[in-house]
Amino acid sequence: MWLYLIAFLLALAIGYALRIYLRGRECKIRRDISNKTILITGGSKGIGQETIRQLANYNCTIIFGSRTKPTEFLNHLNKYYPQTTIKYIPLDLQNWKSIQQFVEQVNKEVKKIDILINNAAIMGTLTREFTSYGLEAQFGTNYFGPFYLTQQLLPLLKKSDSPRVINVASVAHTYEGLDFNDINCDKWANSIFWSRIYTYRAYGNTKLSLILNAQEFSKRTGIKACSLHPGVVRSEVLQYQLSSKWFDWLLKILWPFFAYFTKDCYYGCQTTLYCIMMSDNQLVDGGYYDNCELSKPKYTSKERAEQLWDFTLELIKKVEKEQR
Ligand SMILES: NC(=O)c1ccc[n+]([C@@H]2O[C@H](COP(=O)([O-])OP(=O)(O)OC[C@H]3O[C@@H](n4cnc5c(N)ncnc54)[C@H](OP(=O)(O)O)[C@@H]3O)[C@@H](O)[C@H]2O)c1
Repeated sequence: MWLYLIAFLLALAIGYALRIYLRGRECKIRRDISNKTILITGGSKGIGQETIRQLANYNCTIIFGSRTKPTEFLNHLNKYYPQTTIKYIPLDLQNWKSIQQFVEQVNKEVKKIDILINNAAIMGTLTREFTSYGLEAQFGTNYFGPFYLTQQLLPLLKKSDSPRVINVASVAHTYEGLDFNDINCDKWANSIFWSRIYTYRAYGNTKLSLILNAQEFSKRTGIKACSLHPGVVRSEVLQYQLSSKWFDWLLKILWPFFAYFTKDCYYGCQTTLYCIMMSDNQLVDGGYYDNCELSKPKYTSKERAEQLWDFTLELIKKVEKEQR
């Protein structure tokens, strides 16, 4: 009897310790960011929203953009954190005009940007979707739209004494198959064998692109940049999969396991906070962070980063011509 009890308690203790390990680290660094202006894409939900909630304690200025306005969340923060300025501006990264209007509005609201966080993204669209400027939806939303947005915000970033750009990437960059001749993943989408899962490869491409972008950023702009993996987080990023009935059921059945092995948004935003809170000397330029520490991404190289940057600039020229 005692033996069973001890075994049970031991199993509980191990289970609890494993859970603490799995939910990841908390950012322990703090610095004064009260004079900083932070711009974050996404923020209507998920990791972005939790990042804003945590930053609201620091009396800084926060601007965020997404397609939906989280009115209740905004009212709550404005009521309980009156020292922090929090502004929402509509932004649809799939729409060229919307990105330009967002930038116009940001220029009216602030004189500089100290920290830009490219956080917004979609994952695993079930049907083949495209942006208003003709690119595969994930490539447009997660990488190309943010690249264009960042370029447009460079003058404001350059007005800061110590600007930085943080790209929220993912460990999913390892699913990549980045091919500059097939940026919309047409080959994969049209293949009988791969068409069902092409969407994850397309997502992986965008996340690798964000990491490569951060590696090339300061060389091209003189501004420090980094990227990060937030962990596997219970946010709304699975919304496309959940619209598939079988996936929805599978997740319902496996929910306790899923919850055990994943993070909530509070822990999910800790590595983003870490990249914000590190001093300029601590932040490794072009570094990739995971679980509040420096990590090593896969499939990156100096040549690939350079190639992607030049390729994206060319693509912008092409899209700009078409959108005129
Ligand atoms: N959750 C995870 O396990 C996980 C793992 C690795 C990496 N990540 C990365 O973490 C970041 C945050 O994801 P999350 O988990 O918080 O996902 P989420 O809950 O789905 O939030 C995504 C955010 O992006 C915004 N967004 C989506 N499409 C947009 C568009 N066209 N224009 C402007 N904003 C748009 C959404 O706002 P609207 O819908 O209102 O536009 C929302 O605020 C993403 O970059 C994601 O790839 C997440």
